[in-house]
Amino acid sequence: MNDLAGKHIVLGLTGGIACYKAAELCRALVKEGATVQVVMTQAAEQFITPVTMQALSNRTVYGSQWDAREPNNMPHINLSREADAILLAPCSADFMAKLVQGRADDLLSLMCLARPMDTVPLLIAPAMNREMWAHPATRRNVAQLVSDGTTVFDVGTGDQACGETGDGRMLEPNELLDDLIAFFQPKTMLGQHVLVTAGPTYEAIDPVRGITNLSSGKMGFAIARAAREAGAQVTLVAGPVSLATPRGVHRVDVRSARDMLHAVQEKAAAATVFIATAAVADWRPAHAADQKIKKDGSGATPQLSFVENPDILAAMAQSSRGQSRALYCVGFAAESEDLLANAQAKRLRKGVPLLVGNIGPATFGQDDNALLLVDESGARELARDSKLSLARKLIADTATRMSARG
Ligand code: C5P
Repeated sequence: MNDLAGKHIVLGLTGGIACYKAAELCRALVKEGATVQVVMTQAAEQFITPVTMQALSNRTVYGSQWDAREPNNMPHINLSREADAILLAPCSADFMAKLVQGRADDLLSLMCLARPMDTVPLLIAPAMNREMWAHPATRRNVAQLVSDGTTVFDVGTGDQACGETGDGRMLEPNELLDDLIAFFQPKTMLGQHVLVTAGPTYEAIDPVRGITNLSSGKMGFAIARAAREAGAQVTLVAGPVSLATPRGVHRVDVRSARDMLHAVQEKAAAATVFIATAAVADWRPAHAADQKIKKDGSGATPQLSFVENPDILAAMAQSSRGQSRALYCVGFAAESEDLLANAQAKRLRKGVPLLVGNIGPATFGQDDNALLLVDESGARELARDSKLSLARKLIADTATRMSARG
């Protein structure tokens, strides 16, 4: 992906052991298409050298407001005017206090104060010992920074370089990258709560065997991520897949179709949108054996009989019909042929306003897909693209439909 293509990021480093993660972050930003200008405080230079950051960003690093490289001798003005965002990672407790007070006695703090606030957002990734993070002074500073319009990223929890364990670690570079990418996405889903199902289900035959399908869960996970990026609260009910949970998404793991139905029913009360991407097994074995079914040497094979699983999407669409705050339901259809006709028929059968068709064998397990959006007035194609790009388009489209509905 090139989610930061065309973006110019000023990456500020302040004094903290998490500076070692800033090297990886810088590389990740560049890989994602951004240009990166590194600015370091003197304290940061005690932890990592400007040489390392120069090599990774492919630009000379700035550290002093007296840097004579700038013809007007005003690096704090020149560097901040070019930026799409200033990201401080790591941001120390001391530097947060400086920002709160509006002090400007080194290039980085001077640049943060001098930036045009309306066009150059300031984002900070705090990093400090857990006692420092919990201290009332830091709590006050975080609250003040937020009310001044600064985006304060979360901190991580776990082992700290000082040997203690708790809150205050800087987020990992990949987490910060995802948070920065999300920051730039349009917030079309603010105030919405999106419930997504994803992946296959697993229907037990006995304690060690079962029936499942080839759904990878990638499309549903991409939709959950895109909805979160758009500002929604997101709950993801996932069948058995080994994908990482998207940042900020609440995940509930389930196995069978019936588990999935129960989880969805429990979470639906708070939701405003339901997007059913899961490839739910249509049938399950009528009886799951308590013990492993054994071969007895006679050549006899077990006789399996099946019962139909509940249709989660149809059930949710039906129960929300006529309610004052109706859940907006979006279904998916994985077909092997005749996508338009099958998707139209499925939309009516499921009783949903929007049904998204895709070709099953061409999408299962892949990182890209093509979608056909079918509603009461016709069909619109979203051409082949990465699942994440398609998910963002689908979320934006759904947001528009919801606001048109009023
Ligand atoms: O009937 P079919 O499985 O083709 O329908 C696909 C759509 O219905 C998907 O949105 C899928 O998540 C949903 N579905 C469901 N529960 C089922 C079967 C399908 O929610 N038992």
